[in-house]
Parts: sequence; C-alpha cells; structure tokens
Amino acid sequence: MVSLWLSTAGSVVHRGDFFTILLLPLLLCTTFTSTEAYDALDPIGNITIKWDVISWTPDGYIAVVTMYNFQQYRHIQAPGWILGWTWAKKEVIWNVMGGQTTEQGDCSRFKGNIPHCCKKDPTVVDLLPGTPYNQQIANCCSGGVLTSWAQDPENAISSFQLSVGSAGTTNKTVKLPKNFTLKAPGPGYTCGPAKIVKPTKFITKDKRRTTQALMTWNVTCTYSQFLAQKTPTCCVSLSSFYNNTVVNCPTCTCGCQNKTEPGSCVDPNSPHLASVVSPPGKATNTPLVRCTNHMCPIRVHWHVKLQYKEYWRVKITITNFNYRMNYSQWNLVVQHPNFDNVTQVFSFNFKPLTPYVGLNDTGMLWGVKFYNDLLTSAGPLGNVQSEVLFRKDKSSFTFDKGWAFPRRIYFNGDNCVMPPPDAYPWLPNASSKLIFSLLSTLLGTLACVAMLLT
Ligand SMILES: *[C@@H]1O[C@H](CO)[C@@H](O)[C@H](O)[C@H]1NC(C)=O
Ligand SMILES: *[C@@H]1O[C@H](CO)[C@@H](O)[C@H](O)[C@H]1NC(C)=O
Ligand SMILES: *[C@@H]1O[C@H](CO)[C@@H](O)[C@H](O)[C@H]1NC(C)=O
Ligand SMILES: *[C@@H]1O[C@H](CO)[C@@H](O)[C@H](O)[C@H]1NC(C)=O
Ligand SMILES: *[C@@H]1O[C@H](CO)[C@@H](O)[C@H](O)[C@H]1NC(C)=O
Ligand SMILES: *[C@@H]1O[C@H](CO)[C@@H](O)[C@H](O)[C@H]1NC(C)=O
Ligand SMILES: *[C@@H]1O[C@H](CO)[C@@H](O)[C@H](O)[C@H]1NC(C)=O
Ligand SMILES: *[C@@H]1O[C@H](CO)[C@@H](O)[C@H](O)[C@H]1NC(C)=O
Ligand SMILES: *[C@@H]1O[C@H](CO)[C@@H](O)[C@H](O)[C@H]1NC(C)=O
Repeated sequence: MVSLWLSTAGSVVHRGDFFTILLLPLLLCTTFTSTEAYDALDPIGNITIKWDVISWTPDGYIAVVTMYNFQQYRHIQAPGWILGWTWAKKEVIWNVMGGQTTEQGDCSRFKGNIPHCCKKDPTVVDLLPGTPYNQQIANCCSGGVLTSWAQDPENAISSFQLSVGSAGTTNKTVKLPKNFTLKAPGPGYTCGPAKIVKPTKFITKDKRRTTQALMTWNVTCTYSQFLAQKTPTCCVSLSSFYNNTVVNCPTCTCGCQNKTEPGSCVDPNSPHLASVVSPPGKATNTPLVRCTNHMCPIRVHWHVKLQYKEYWRVKITITNFNYRMNYSQWNLVVQHPNFDNVTQVFSFNFKPLTPYVGLNDTGMLWGVKFYNDLLTSAGPLGNVQSEVLFRKDKSSFTFDKGWAFPRRIYFNGDNCVMPPPDAYPWLPNASSKLIFSLLSTLLGTLACVAMLLT
C-alpha cells in the first residue's frame, strides 16, 4: 500500500491528472491504517528459523537451530537478534552451544546437574565474536548480527545448538515449541507457528555422504515497519544543476526540535559535545541526533549533477546525524524509472532488485567493503557518497516535472520521507502545475481526515 501511495504521489508531478486526485486520498488513508507485513519491493522477504533434531537423548533431543535472513535489504545490526519461544511441555535446556539464554529461570526442582535454563519462555542471544572455540558451532558468534541476503548471504545465517531435556524422545512424542518471537532487538517481526517439514539433508565436507536430520521444523518471521512503530528515521533532500533551490528534508520529519527540553538533540558547536554523546557511566543506546530542522538520524541527498548527450549523472550523499551510531553494512534501495539502464555506479556496490518480472526500476546500493561500508557517527559529520551514471532513454528522459528525482528511497529497509512533490526543483519556465498538485494534496488530506472521522 505504501508503495502505491508513494508512486501515486510521484505521478502527481508527472501527470497531475484527475485520477491522482481521486486516488490519492484513498491510498493516503490506507497508508495509515494498513498493518500488513508486506513490502512490495521484497514481497517474500522473511527470516526463516529451522530446527533440526540431530539426535534423541535419554530425556529429550539435541537440535541445531539456524536462522536465515532471506530479506534482500533488511539486516539485523548490533546489538543483534533475540529469539524467544514458549515450550509446549516442561522442557528445559541442559546446554547451549554458540548461543546462550538471557535468563536461567527457576531450576530449584533439579538436584545435581543444573540446566542452563528452566524458563517456560526462554530467550536466546548469540555469543560475541572471539568466543572460545569449544563453545562455538558453525555460523555462530557474530553477536547476533545478520547481513541482508542481497548484500552478503554467507553472513545472513546464524546458528546455535540446544540440548533439550524433559522433552519427547521420538518424533511422535516431541511437541513443537510455540509462540516464537524475534526481536532485532526492537519490535517489528511477527513469527508464524512452527511447521514440520521434510528433514534437512546435510552433505559431509568431502561431499561423499549425506546425512539427515531426524526431524525438522520451520518457523517464518516477517517484518513490518508499521509494527516496529518507529517514527521515520530517514529523509530525502533534493537539488539539481538546473535550479539552485535546495529542497531540504521536510521540517519535523523524524521529530521536532524542542528548545525547552535540553538534550533532545546536540548542537555540533556545543563545548560539551563529547560528554553529552557518551555521558560517563551511562548506557548510550538511545539515539542522539544533531539538531536539524528534520531531526532525522539519516539524510539521503539526491543531486542531479550533470547531463551529457547520451547520459546523465546523479550524486547521492548519505549523511549520518546520529552521534551514537555507526551504521555498518548499510544499504540503500532506490526506485527511479532510469534504473532499468544504469551505466555505472561509482564507489558503491549496485544490484538491480527485481521482486517480480516486469519491475526494473529499482536498485540496491551498498558500501564497498573496508572503504565505505561503515557510515560512521556524526563526530565530524559522517557521510558516504556515490555517483550514478544513467543512459538516457530518449522516449522517457526529461528534467521536467521532477522526473529526475527518485520515486522512493529506503535506508536499511526503512522508508525515507521525501519532500512533497510540489516542492521539487523546477526547470526554469516549467508550466505551473504547482497549483494543481497543491490542490490535489489538500483535497487528499481533507478527504482522508473526513474518512477517518466517519
Ligand atoms: C521465505 O523466503 C524464502 C527465500 O526467499 C522463500 O523461498 C520462502 O517462500 C519464504 N517464505 C514465506 C512464507 O514467504
Ligand atoms: C517419524 O518417523 C517415522 C520413521 O521413524 C516416519 O515414518 C514418520 O513420518 C515420522 N513422523 C514425523 C511426524 O516426522
Ligand atoms: C501465545 O501468545 C498469545 C498472545 O501473546 C497468548 O495469548 C498465548 O497464551 C500464548 N501461548 C502460549 C502457549 O504461551
Ligand atoms: C525450511 O527452511 C529451510 C531453510 O530455510 C528451507 O531450505 C526449507 O525449504 C524450508 N522448508 C519449507 C517447507 O518451507
Ligand atoms: C517540549 O518539552 C517540554 C518539556 O519536556 C514539553 O512540556 C513540551 O510539550 C515539548 N514541546 C514540544 C513542542 O514537543
Ligand atoms: C564509530 O566509529 C568510530 C571510528 O571507527 C569510533 O571512534 C567510534 O567510537 C564509533 N562510535 C560508535 C558509537 O560506535
Ligand atoms: C523496463 O520496464 C518497462 C515497463 O515494464 C519497459 O518499458 C522497459 O523497456 C524495461 N526496460 C528494460 C531495459 O528492460
Ligand atoms: C541501455 O540503453 C542502451 C541504448 O538505449 C541499449 O543499447 C542497452 O541495451 C540498454 N541496456 C539495458 C540493460 O537495457
Ligand atoms: C526552482 O524550483 C523552485 C521550486 O522548488 C521554484 O520555486 C523556483 O521558481 C525554481 N527556480 C527557477 C529559476 O525556475
């Protein structure tokens, strides 16, 4: 729904026809009421959690739990994932390899051997890099960080091994855990029920023998930005060579500066900058942004830089305004009709995204390893830059009506708020579509308010 709304908003600039005026309010309203975990640019994106029972024990089983981040561009950053579930019976966890539960719970009913965890609803976290080898298993110990599938599929997998007691000891008596929860580490993911699937086949290192799990079940978790209930975290600003207006991010996109509440943001000229950013003896996980009109931690600037006879060139700059966050392995998803014919992308990696056949206007950009894959915090403002060279398609190319600006941008999978279409830089002498699109936005808002009130 969000996609429809945004592309419609984009087309206000192109056509400004009556359909947009009629459709906009409808779609605008749906944007605010939709709760579906559906992302049009990554429609089957999910995190799959697979439990492979690899042996039965006298009182339960040993299982390898593996998480696959199948999402094209959404990753899990430090401090990493937290996976929880509810046991169906009175199971306990004797031991975990390559992970640990966050709480042991009440194990007072045990004498002698004490389990690792006796909670009915355990939560597991990954171990940190550098964990001793005898506590590791394959694909563990990255501190819960999972890269996105398009960027780095090898590191989009995380595993731990559980030794479960007081559980069933055959595939008839074992009961599947329920109510899976995945935090990253905040909200946003919803997990379905565990489903028994065909047992996984494992191929030995020498590729000459195949073994298989005794029993396997899968759980699928999907993300919704709506559920994460985040205020926007990112905004877009625009400029062009043909008009010297710089269209800034909309004011208060991610919050408003509150002059009466000191500490809501930081003035970079503040003499106490260092002590405000990392107050001695305090946890510093809450974001702290530089004071701007938009108050967003991330701004993406799209500058239409040059045109040649056959080509045109855009400069993209991502700026980090969050003093407390270095964005490692960041990525950008950009939708623009000319992404069907990109000639060259400088300084960033590029991959076209084709969630379904026929869609060819979307691409994913991310940093080059060890060069600009880390978007450092806003000490002296951290930023990364790239230029993209497009080949003009004579039938559609124009600088008129905002065509050269992106239709949609995501940073790390979260939608970046665009300036209103009627604020886009114009070509000198552009016809006055302004009144028309202003009118349609106004009508849209009014109709939406009316619909919500009824
Ligand atoms: C999860 O993602 C995988 C890989 O893209 C896909 O094969 C599978 O169908 C997805 N599952 C769901 C329930 O969407
Ligand atoms: C349990 O194992 C038996 C073979 O031992 C197999 O035939 C059956 O399909 C399995 N059932 C499930 C639910 O995995
Ligand atoms: C699963 O979660 C739902 C909603 O939070 C709750 O009502 C239900 O009792 C839970 N089931 C178990 C087995 O804990
Ligand atoms: C279960 O998950 C694994 C790993 O993602 C996948 O290979 C397998 O196809 C899934 N099975 C089903 C039935 O979805
Ligand atoms: C600013 O902060 C003060 C104190 O926390 C609060 O009472 C006031 O409502 C805030 N104003 C705005 C515009 O958020
Ligand atoms: C970000 O990276 C810089 C340079 O690598 C480092 O000095 C700084 O402590 C990091 N900041 C955070 C919040 O991790
Ligand atoms: C991209 O898709 C559009 C519309 O489906 C089509 O007209 C265009 O030729 C496609 N471009 C390429 C390079 O395939
Ligand atoms: C890009 O455009 C050129 C010239 O129009 C064309 O020859 C080329 O095939 C196009 N590339 C793609 C991937 O469509
Ligand atoms: C540049 O674009 C702005 C709209 O953002 C418009 O108000 C202004 O008149 C344009 N300047 C020229 C020289 O056309």
